[in-house]
Amino acid sequence: MHSSTQIKPLDSRIALITGASAGIGRQCAHHLASMGAKLILNARRQQNLIKLTQELNENYPTNDNSPRSTFIAGDAANQSTIDKMMAATAQLFNESLLTPPIPDIIIVNAGRGLNGSVMTSDTNQWEEMVRTNLLGAARLIRTAGIALQKLQESRNWPEKPADLVILGSTVGRHISPFSSMYGSTKFAVNSLAEAARRELGPKGVRVSLIEPGIVKSEFQQVAGYDEDNFGDLMDTISPVLSPMDIARTIAFIISQPPGMHISDVVIRSTRQEYP
Ligand SMILES: NC(=O)c1ccc[n+]([C@@H]2O[C@H](COP(=O)([O-])OP(=O)(O)OC[C@H]3O[C@@H](n4cnc5c(N)ncnc54)[C@H](OP(=O)(O)O)[C@@H]3O)[C@@H](O)[C@H]2O)c1
Repeated sequence: MHSSTQIKPLDSRIALITGASAGIGRQCAHHLASMGAKLILNARRQQNLIKLTQELNENYPTNDNSPRSTFIAGDAANQSTIDKMMAATAQLFNESLLTPPIPDIIIVNAGRGLNGSVMTSDTNQWEEMVRTNLLGAARLIRTAGIALQKLQESRNWPEKPADLVILGSTVGRHISPFSSMYGSTKFAVNSLAEAARRELGPKGVRVSLIEPGIVKSEFQQVAGYDEDNFGDLMDTISPVLSPMDIARTIAFIISQPPGMHISDVVIRSTRQEYP
């Protein structure tokens, strides 16, 4: 049990995380809660979110007795899910926390991979992947970007940070012929993130792109990677990154003073030379 009276770096901040039922999103939820943030969590698997919010609420009690976390289950690519997530702050938390009451850390994380190239990947999965990785990310960047801009207008922005953190990938920066359809969605995300940074940075909103190499999570199975081939690659580059490596990096970025911005981070396991 963690002490609820100790001052923590993310006290008074509220984070919205999509794709929180597994992997990087789930680990971010734990880590940010341990640093004092309150959380709005999203994914499609409601049972996982129920369990996660129970864990967080029990392990990280808040000072004002409001719950540490809540969840909105649903497809993160739906605008209606996004609107519910953004509105969840007012219903859950002390309204005086932020005005307007919206999350001030938004982590655009929900996503999936797809084994194979434009020639070899399963075309039946293209639309779902593009919808989740690109359109879903774009809708949340737009909705959150507008809201965070208003939040910063309503207060003296140099005093308080507002963060939009977006999960790209090393294959969204370096072309990999082996996962080119997936990589193309992350190249698109890369350009959206940098464009949003240029648009929102001058208004006091930090837009940060996180580009991990291979991270061990449910990602590999969902993407349909061949277990033998991929297992060999994992062995070659081991130890591979864990979701906690990404969570620590995100926590470091959002804990910086509001006038400082780490906008783009590539993270690989030391032995991963490519991509
Ligand atoms: N693992 C890697 O090697 C790696 C490398 C670079 C970048 N990334 C990126 O990092 C992010 C997280 O990946 P991960 O490794 O944590 O993968 P993961 O373990 O498979 O987790 C993916 C999360 O996204 C959620 N999700 C998928 N589609 C969704 C949708 N339409 N709506 C809401 N939630 C959805 C999943 O939950 P539900 O199934 O319950 O919806 C799950 O919580 C992704 O954007 C991925 O592209 C991963």
